[in-house]
Amino acid sequence: MKVSIIGGGGLVGSCTAFALQAGGVVRSVALLDVNEELAQGQALDLLHGTPVLADQEIVAGGYEHIADSDLVCITAGLRRKPNESRLDLINRNVDLFLSILDQVQQAGLRQDALVLVVSNPVDVLTYLATQRLSLPPGRVLGLGTQLDTIRFRSLIAQELKLPPRQVSALILGEHGDSMVPIWSSATVAGLPLTKWPGWSTQLANRIFQRTRGSGAEVIRKKGGAGFAVGVAIAEVIHSVALDLRRVLPVSSLQNGTYGLRDVCLSVPTVVGRQGVLETVQVPLWPKEEQALLRSGSVLRQTLDTVLARVGT
Ligand code: 2OP
Repeated sequence: MKVSIIGGGGLVGSCTAFALQAGGVVRSVALLDVNEELAQGQALDLLHGTPVLADQEIVAGGYEHIADSDLVCITAGLRRKPNESRLDLINRNVDLFLSILDQVQQAGLRQDALVLVVSNPVDVLTYLATQRLSLPPGRVLGLGTQLDTIRFRSLIAQELKLPPRQVSALILGEHGDSMVPIWSSATVAGLPLTKWPGWSTQLANRIFQRTRGSGAEVIRKKGGAGFAVGVAIAEVIHSVALDLRRVLPVSSLQNGTYGLRDVCLSVPTVVGRQGVLETVQVPLWPKEEQALLRSGSVLRQTLDTVLARVGT
């Protein structure tokens, strides 16, 4: 499988490329970036590691790589300022993103290809991609709360001194301020997290608030996320490449799950070689489902503002 990463010279794109190299699953990675020299430098640095990690082709180039790509990952965009919310970022990134979509279309994006949107605000940009690209909706997905979910799990594990891979907990909804922690299904080694020794609602609130603020915290400390977002993206891409059909909290165009429609946000989603195979509605606590609907309405209001400016 060939993956093209638009924004591949940047922190998110290059960390994604490294995560794909470490995973050794995809055959070819192309790094596309407006800063061609930077993309070439990232590709060369990655190429040097291939004899140790993976028999992979890693190149830098332009939109000539789109036509034979199986998946196009769009990470390009301006990063939030430390105190800027993702939605505030929207106007600065929407125009850039729409120009990228046009170039991807003109470059001959295949009908059986997939597009994975990472640029922020990811749920709004994923929606625009479903509207502007001539792909079936299931072939356009966004990273959504996949990154928030692994952050959430890591912080729970840190607080309770648990092995992170034995902590299962979900964040759903918007990759942004209205994201929703799903405590009702959280487990440690298959046991209910809310019954775990040392658990309390105070601890739960503290962990969730830190999860929700993690993007801004990382931006303040090091300028922006790289390693975690790279592995979060690689998990989605590997589920596509190997048709693993993993259930992941990625963003896609909703068509009735939990009563959500005509908006992109994260619900439990089966991800395979054809992209979004299905979304799964598992009963949540009433307050969780209400928060999910609220997340949908926040995003729908933002979409209406954006669409009034850029058109459908
Ligand atoms: C984050 O939360 C990049 O939006 C991403 O760090």
